[in-house]
Amino acid sequence: MQHILKCHEIIKTDFVRGENCFLYDTEGKQYVDFESGIWCTALGHNNPRIRLAIESQLKQIIHLGTRYPNNLCEEAAKAVLDIVGIENGKCTFLSSGSEAVEFGVQAIRRITGKPLLLTFQNSFLGSYGSAGNKQLTEWFLLDWNSCTHTNIDNRLEKIPFEKIGGFVFEPGGSGISFVHFPPAPLIHSIVGKIRQMGGLVLVNEVTAGMGRTGKWFGFQHYDIQPDIVALGKGLGNGYPISAVAMSLEVAENLENSGFHYAQSHQNDPLGCATAKEVITVFHEGNWVEKGNELGNFFLNELRRLAQKHAAIKEARGRGMLLGLEFQPHDRITAASMYRALLEKGFLVGYYYPVGNILRFDPALTMEKENVLRLIECLDHILEEAALY
Ligand SMILES: Cc1ncc(COP(=O)(O)O)c(C=O)c1O
Repeated sequence: MQHILKCHEIIKTDFVRGENCFLYDTEGKQYVDFESGIWCTALGHNNPRIRLAIESQLKQIIHLGTRYPNNLCEEAAKAVLDIVGIENGKCTFLSSGSEAVEFGVQAIRRITGKPLLLTFQNSFLGSYGSAGNKQLTEWFLLDWNSCTHTNIDNRLEKIPFEKIGGFVFEPGGSGISFVHFPPAPLIHSIVGKIRQMGGLVLVNEVTAGMGRTGKWFGFQHYDIQPDIVALGKGLGNGYPISAVAMSLEVAENLENSGFHYAQSHQNDPLGCATAKEVITVFHEGNWVEKGNELGNFFLNELRRLAQKHAAIKEARGRGMLLGLEFQPHDRITAASMYRALLEKGFLVGYYYPVGNILRFDPALTMEKENVLRLIECLDHILEEAALY
């Protein structure tokens, strides 16, 4: 890998094939992927239905200029608006989750004209732009861990809501690895205050969306209806397509503001065909419900391990977004467990230096027996490690 730029950690360079929750390297060794790539292949690697839709669209047309969105794009937009529960809204298709969030941020600034946006300190909103950098001149960062149900009002009093154009809420476990979900009363209070001051609510569903947390979208655990929803990752099941969906009122305000945004692959037919088929496959296979069921089973198994092994601090999660946090220990750490699992053919999430936690975000289409294989392997590694 002489010519691959190292701008993040690279661990293994010989995966050549994928099928559902399995990856295969050049030696033919099988790995069970509990990360779905990077939380993208919710319907499994190389899903045959999605592959077929891509192949068939490849034969028609891949790309069209931004001035020429076709009917496929309109159909995909309707499908996205339907799943996010926005009746008669509008949608645009982009290429990455970061781009979708950044688009939403720009839209809010344009519509409200206010300089600041509110988000949680540990939310991950994207890799670039204002949402990626979260400069304090543009963002008010709230540490929600310090908010208890008795001090919410007190903490919120310190937020200059009159200067804030919107709340960017990431409902997928707050950040890249923590698997900690903010409490609903806090979200209700913030959303109430934001709306009182004419602000907008943008929900970042890049990771939490498409069934990851046991419902179609993470915000549905909070009984709120956002003004703007950013989607990515699972929407393309590994193909780089993202979307921003918004209410008609927000869309009209944005359009009337003279807002201009165009990039080369916006509303491309290949991405739209992919997203449309992904949504159809989700509906037909009841994958949100099935994923939630498997996630509950998985969490119970992780909790059973936590009761058995003192090295585990807590097992927690929602749907198929699960985490296993370890106690401080000189040998048994998330890092050592990650390496031991990799050796045994399991890919799990571990994002040094975020926390002493392993994360599991498998495909919703994973078979139960693979969850049991992982649990058995974890159990065994922990038993052995405890002996020394
Ligand atoms: C919560 C969240 N938002 C946004 C992004 C950015 O998405 P992308 O990597 O597709 O740009 C990520 C990526 O991991 C994410 O986890």
